[in-house]
Amino acid sequence: MKFFLSALALVAPAQGYLRFGCGTLSVQRLDPLVEPGAIPSAHLHQIVGGNAFNATMDPSRDIGNEATCTTCSFSEDFSNYWTAVLYFKAQNGSYIRVPQYPNALLGDLQGGMTIYYIQESFSTNGNQKITAFPPGFRMTVGNPGNGDGANPGLRYTCLQNVMTRFPETAEFPKAPCPAGIMAIHHFPACWDGKNLDSANHQDHMYNTVKGAFQPAGACPASHPVRVPQVAYETMWDTTKFNDKSLWPTDGSQPFVWSYEDSTGYGTHGDYLFGWKGDALQRAMDSTALLSTGLATQSVPQANACKIQPSVVEEIDGWLSSLPGRSAM
Ligand SMILES: *[C@@H]1O[C@H](CO)[C@@H](O)[C@H](O)[C@H]1NC(C)=O
Ligand SMILES: *[C@@H]1O[C@H](CO)[C@@H](O)[C@H](O)[C@H]1NC(C)=O
Repeated sequence: MKFFLSALALVAPAQGYLRFGCGTLSVQRLDPLVEPGAIPSAHLHQIVGGNAFNATMDPSRDIGNEATCTTCSFSEDFSNYWTAVLYFKAQNGSYIRVPQYPNALLGDLQGGMTIYYIQESFSTNGNQKITAFPPGFRMTVGNPGNGDGANPGLRYTCLQNVMTRFPETAEFPKAPCPAGIMAIHHFPACWDGKNLDSANHQDHMYNTVKGAFQPAGACPASHPVRVPQVAYETMWDTTKFNDKSLWPTDGSQPFVWSYEDSTGYGTHGDYLFGWKGDALQRAMDSTALLSTGLATQSVPQANACKIQPSVVEEIDGWLSSLPGRSAM
């Protein structure tokens, strides 16, 4: 299995899923999904996608129509995708932000993530109807407060080189990783078919994901609509922190998410649908993905898309506490 996936990643995949890079749009403390209107939100995020991203993004809006640029290589994808930010914690208690690798899928997108919309698996679309999300749709996966590592779709890979995909772990790697750490977020693939959101941003979805891009299980009657299985891969370049003499003397590992999580169990991701018109549905109805006629843009065009930050604060250099958190 390991060989199969690594080998596949080296060649352009023929069909079965959308896989594309989105560069960094913004790194700031905003969370229009969990903390709408809060400027700033509780913790720092790295955000990719369309420039309609803001502190408030009401579900009645269609950001696919409002946004005017995107950091994604598919130029009709104005969705927003975000996760927490990784920091290194030094022995003296100071923090410094871990850089993200440039996304090399299509050239050098600045930072960002690789985004997937899986129909069934890497090798087949399956025989199921995949329903694209409607405008206004949003969801989260994972819980910063009480993650337990039980969701097989929330994982880390200790990169021996940039192609490493296995093994996956539920917690942060315990030893230095020669080529960095990949954080993986798979979202649920079953929707109730009615609600754009729910109070905890998760109950309108049902998770049958088995992890590692295996085909998800059947959707239950409560959540009968099969939607694309969205996944994020974020490559954190931890390599300049690999000197073991910089690591905690108690044998623990030094990386911490921006909401102060050094186990990694609270890892979470946020998704806000924003493809223009029926572009995503057309892609999902096609059998030869990646050559569906979806519009693309160049790397310089994607990198040029930015937003004016609403929250201006120091997030780089040595910090005595994580942005928004008091010193511990
Ligand atoms: C974000 O919202 C603020 C008001 O809170 C507004 O001034 C600003 O133009 C908005 N930015 C974008 C990109 O829509
Ligand atoms: C804390 O440690 C880091 C890494 O050794 C160092 O660069 C930084 O200057 C230190 N900060 C303080 C406040 O001592």
